Amino acid sequence: MIPVKRLGAATFLSPDVARVADYYEQIVGLEIVERSSRRAILATDMGEEALVFEAGDSTHCPRLALGIDPHFDLADAARILATLGITSEMRTAITPGVGKALTFTDPKGTIIELFADYRPVSGKRAGHGIAPVKFGHIAFNAETAGAITDFYCQTLGFRVSDWIDDVFAFLRCGPDHHTCNFISGPAGVMHHMAFELKDWPHVLVACDTLGRNGRKLIWGPGRHRVGHNIFVYTRDPDDHIVEFFCDIDLMKDESLGYFEPRPWHEDRPQRPKRWTFESGAPLWGLAPSDDFRRSGTRHIPTLK
Ligand SMILES: [Fe+2]
Repeated sequence: MIPVKRLGAATFLSPDVARVADYYEQIVGLEIVERSSRRAILATDMGEEALVFEAGDSTHCPRLALGIDPHFDLADAARILATLGITSEMRTAITPGVGKALTFTDPKGTIIELFADYRPVSGKRAGHGIAPVKFGHIAFNAETAGAITDFYCQTLGFRVSDWIDDVFAFLRCGPDHHTCNFISGPAGVMHHMAFELKDWPHVLVACDTLGRNGRKLIWGPGRHRVGHNIFVYTRDPDDHIVEFFCDIDLMKDESLGYFEPRPWHEDRPQRPKRWTFESGAPLWGLAPSDDFRRSGTRHIPTLK
């Protein structure tokens, strides 16, 4: 098993790299660490690369970087993939923070860039915009959520935190309740990406910053029941759904098998489980807007 530990940068194509990079720099408050007319790379204040935009005709997300245990050899990862009949390739000079990555295509068609060593690229405080603390998770549609979930758990070391029915999986690769989501739907299409904020007052800063810049909320604020994070959702200039969240459930000790107790939990203790769309509906907050619901949610009854 390849021990994936954290999310790296997601790469998106964009018909207007300058426009989308400006949005993430000025409103979201990421720092542009590399920029040309064809590519922009953005990182958090903590120096972690989060997003790469490359010039293209679509807004597709072709690649996702995942950080593995730094003591694990990428050559061993290549051997594990080979036993499954998966071809991989070692590439260099990926981004300023990632000098070497093992790349392969996952079963839903996303190119995964596995990296072991990472060099922080920033650390300079942007001092403006929302300034999230972390690129927290990314959700993809996959033809069958069960099959891609099995691959991520059996090959990449993810654990299932929760299911909603058998169509919406929440997977963790560290303490956070979910780093990847898989939703049964059009294969390989990114559903939403999410940035972690410090706390509820920081969510207010996000709402004010979005509002001041004419960017609408399309869902929230509210508190999810699955993962228990407080959320707001908006859309970026390329029409991607972007979530800002805080208070996500944490599995601080895998051997305990439950999430760190919180006052808003339904169960004592709160263990990974299978919810229904009814039992897993948000704890509070209004229903999502039509603008949220138009993004590939045909399998999610409560979002219709
Ligand atoms: Fe999310």
